[in-house]
Amino acid sequence: MLGKIKQLIKSNSTFANYARRCKTWLYATVRCGIRGYGHNLQFNRGVVVCFRDLKIGHDVFVGYDCYFGVQNIQIGNYVQLAPKVAITGGDHLIEVVGTPMVKTGLDASREIQTTQKGVVIQDDVWVGLGAIIMDGVTIGEGSIIGAGSVVTKDIPPYTIFAGCPAKKIRDRFSSQNDRIEHSKKINGTWHRSVDNK
Ligand SMILES: CC(C)(COP(=O)(O)OP(=O)(O)OC[C@H]1O[C@@H](n2cnc3c(N)ncnc32)[C@H](O)[C@@H]1OP(=O)(O)O)[C@@H](O)C(=O)NCCC(=O)NCCS
Repeated sequence: MLGKIKQLIKSNSTFANYARRCKTWLYATVRCGIRGYGHNLQFNRGVVVCFRDLKIGHDVFVGYDCYFGVQNIQIGNYVQLAPKVAITGGDHLIEVVGTPMVKTGLDASREIQTTQKGVVIQDDVWVGLGAIIMDGVTIGEGSIIGAGSVVTKDIPPYTIFAGCPAKKIRDRFSSQNDRIEHSKKINGTWHRSVDNK
């Protein structure tokens, strides 16, 4: 019965769109309490959002069981986070003599005691399954992070990084012209910094 209803919803695109929007509203707004997101967000089950200042652009996919454990996360447009991507770090003080680290995260009012830098994921980024992105990192426009990678440093635009710690595999496009044209077509910001040089 449930299977038949699901099939019926999938076969009708208007209904399917409506159902997807309801699902996003339920998981993103009601369950995780985030307000700042653009149109056409796909937000799946099991996502954990520790801080509600998370901002998400348009046409973004957030896979199952993603974990947003850092303050001030900004996600651009056309971003795809595969299941189990985690953003973490900067959350416990480690050099307070006499205080165990388990007590140096959230204080009694559930406010974080450290100052997290935040994470920026620019437009058209794809983060592979189970990747971990550490606090303070910016992932440049158009780049790809391989499955299971640990990203500890900024990722330059239009590059593919993978591994632990993530290292460059290659450029996403072989020519600078393709990079610029792509950035213009997706209405990105990176091409402006190149045009102006
Ligand atoms: C990063 C990725 C896109 C690279 O694909 P690719 O360009 O075809 O790369 P290749 O398979 O040619 O591998 C190139 C090198 O990178 C290494 N590599 C590729 N992916 C890697 C990963 N996730 N972690 C570590 N190393 C990786 C390969 O071992 C290879 O190393 P070598 O040159 O020493 O042999 C792909 O491997 C990946 O991780 N995709 C994500 C898939 C995913 O999570 N999907 C979820 C659905 S949303």
